Amino acid sequence: MGNSKDNIKVWWDGKILPFQEAKVPILNHSMQYGSGIFEGIRAYETDRGVAIFRLEDHVRRFLRSMKIYRMVSEYGEMEIINAILEIVKANNFENCYIRPFIFYFDDNIPLPVEGKKTSLYIVPLPMGKYLENASGLKCKISSWTRINSDSLPIQAKASGNYLNSLIAVMEARENGFDEAIMIDRDGYVGEGSAENLFLVEDGMLFTPSLDSSALKGITRDTIIRIAKMTDLEVQERRIHREELYTADEVFLCGTAIEIAGVINVDGRMVGNGKEGVITRRLRERYGEVVRGKFAVDPGWLNFV
Ligand SMILES: Cc1ncc(COP(=O)(O)O)c(C=O)c1O
Repeated sequence: MGNSKDNIKVWWDGKILPFQEAKVPILNHSMQYGSGIFEGIRAYETDRGVAIFRLEDHVRRFLRSMKIYRMVSEYGEMEIINAILEIVKANNFENCYIRPFIFYFDDNIPLPVEGKKTSLYIVPLPMGKYLENASGLKCKISSWTRINSDSLPIQAKASGNYLNSLIAVMEARENGFDEAIMIDRDGYVGEGSAENLFLVEDGMLFTPSLDSSALKGITRDTIIRIAKMTDLEVQERRIHREELYTADEVFLCGTAIEIAGVINVDGRMVGNGKEGVITRRLRERYGEVVRGKFAVDPGWLNFV
């Protein structure tokens, strides 16, 4: 690897290393079988310095994902929080995306994990905007069904789950769309490939309930909390595919993408084909919340 990552420092099992020195064994279990667990977190520049948004919530989800797979880390909640703060500070980044990743550090073929040791690294990457056309996405309903908890635990952010996301995104891109929307096993709208989904109808917000194979997203929760504070009614319920075709507005949300308007689903224009008014208001408000300009919960910003 070369180029832009040359100056990045990573935290790895308690040490700070240059990016180029962080190397893994080629047969490591997580690479062979998708058994890594990860998080995606963001830090933003605020008037009071760099702050990590909802760090504790992300670390708690990270630990819950590990628990589902009985993955044991040497590091507890506070140690991981402190490690993330330390590595963001060490890199001196203002706006960045942070990827903690825990995996089996071994070099063997067998699938069972008894006796295997885990290793944890944290990589911060400079990140401004994730997508260029983030307020005008064209989405395709995937022909691939969203994984369901009867085959893979969907609330665990495990690497293997993202093959389901990947195949859906590939299909969407090959067909000229930006992103995939995935339907759950029962035929209801689930989520994007790695984003939650909301729609607006008659001034009300709707988002798939968690029985629709959707990740319990932290951005999703942030939006629900912002909406409640601003008297915008939100309903979590099952959503039919055709509701996306007739909605006034549709948007995707997630830590990386933040809030991105969807202007077209399966070739049908959403609303007037432009980012909707409520989407824009929420996107702007979200930007203020993560940058400490509008407080919903004082515990959401962790200063570096
Ligand atoms: C499958 C999936 N859904 C939704 C999201 C959005 O979650 P969050 O808002 O916590 O980033 C993510 C991103 O982590 C994801 O991977």
